[in-house]
Amino acid sequence: GVNLKGRNFLTLMDFTQEEIRYMLDLGHDLKRKKRAGITGDTLKGKNIVLLFEKTSTRTRSSFEVAVRDEGGHAVFLGSDSSQVGKKESIEDSAKVLGRIYDGIEFRGYEQSTVETLAKYAGVPVWNGLTDIDHPTQILADMMTIEEHVAKPLSKVKVIFCGDIRNNMSYAWMYGCAKMGMHFVAYGPEELAKEIDQNVLDRVNEVAEETGAVIEVRSDDGCLEGADVLYTDIWASMGEEAEIPERVRLLTPYKVTEEMLEKTKNPDVIFMHCLPSFHDFSTKMAKEQLELGYDIREVTDEVFRSRHSVVFDEAENRMHSIKAVIVATLGR
Ligand code: CP
Ligand code: NVA
Repeated sequence: GVNLKGRNFLTLMDFTQEEIRYMLDLGHDLKRKKRAGITGDTLKGKNIVLLFEKTSTRTRSSFEVAVRDEGGHAVFLGSDSSQVGKKESIEDSAKVLGRIYDGIEFRGYEQSTVETLAKYAGVPVWNGLTDIDHPTQILADMMTIEEHVAKPLSKVKVIFCGDIRNNMSYAWMYGCAKMGMHFVAYGPEELAKEIDQNVLDRVNEVAEETGAVIEVRSDDGCLEGADVLYTDIWASMGEEAEIPERVRLLTPYKVTEEMLEKTKNPDVIFMHCLPSFHDFSTKMAKEQLELGYDIREVTDEVFRSRHSVVFDEAENRMHSIKAVIVATLGR
């Protein structure tokens, strides 16, 4: 059987298909239990720390609630309120935090930071998003697909539309490669060119074993037969300066009703990791509109349509993150 005790969770590329299957099954199981009012004590006596260089709603909340549900305790350390990385190296911080805590979650910029933490902490380290990966999001998304699409993952076609060179696009390539899925990064050629060739080589190597298909496409012919249409904001955290250029490149790739129709699948589901600019109700969307930039990556109509499963995804962040912590640290 699968045993993930003591393992880090840095990227899905570090896990076998069987191990990912195990975490998904555990997530579904923990969700059923939570809904039935049953929580556990597998993390009793365990303390974990949440290191955040970037902001978060879902990931932070999911880690805090997940640990609490299993009888453990979480401490939040924002980058403004700790020494990490500014007055103290990542290596030293890892050694210190590993003495005090039983597990470390990190969200921030560099993937190398989460790798360095894992190298020196001596306790499990979990990746809560970096510039090039977001593995816990993919587990939540796969759980959500399994709830809404009546096919095994290996028969599912996912279109990731928009900023195809961002952390979510890469995270999806890794996840789809491992689970033998059909993945299409659908976006403009200018951004396709920026996709890291090394990532494509690595996922294609995995795909050869699992039967996955990983494509990068700019033409809407790829939409036909999609089970999932997924998008993300056009300029990720830390990339706000790119907004004018991204609006220029990605407006033709905004997710609309017409795009859903091109899948020719009446049951296609719309997914988004969130947060989303689907209207102008946020400060940022309003400010950008005043500057002349419409940053909506999806129409409000699609976001609120019967196809949209975005809030199931958000909930599943908690259940899947709980699965990762319990699998790697729980009793
Ligand atoms: N999807 C996601 O990671 O959300 P947060 O940035 O709110 O954590
Ligand atoms: N690509 C987005 C994902 C947010 C969950 C970002 O990095 O800002």
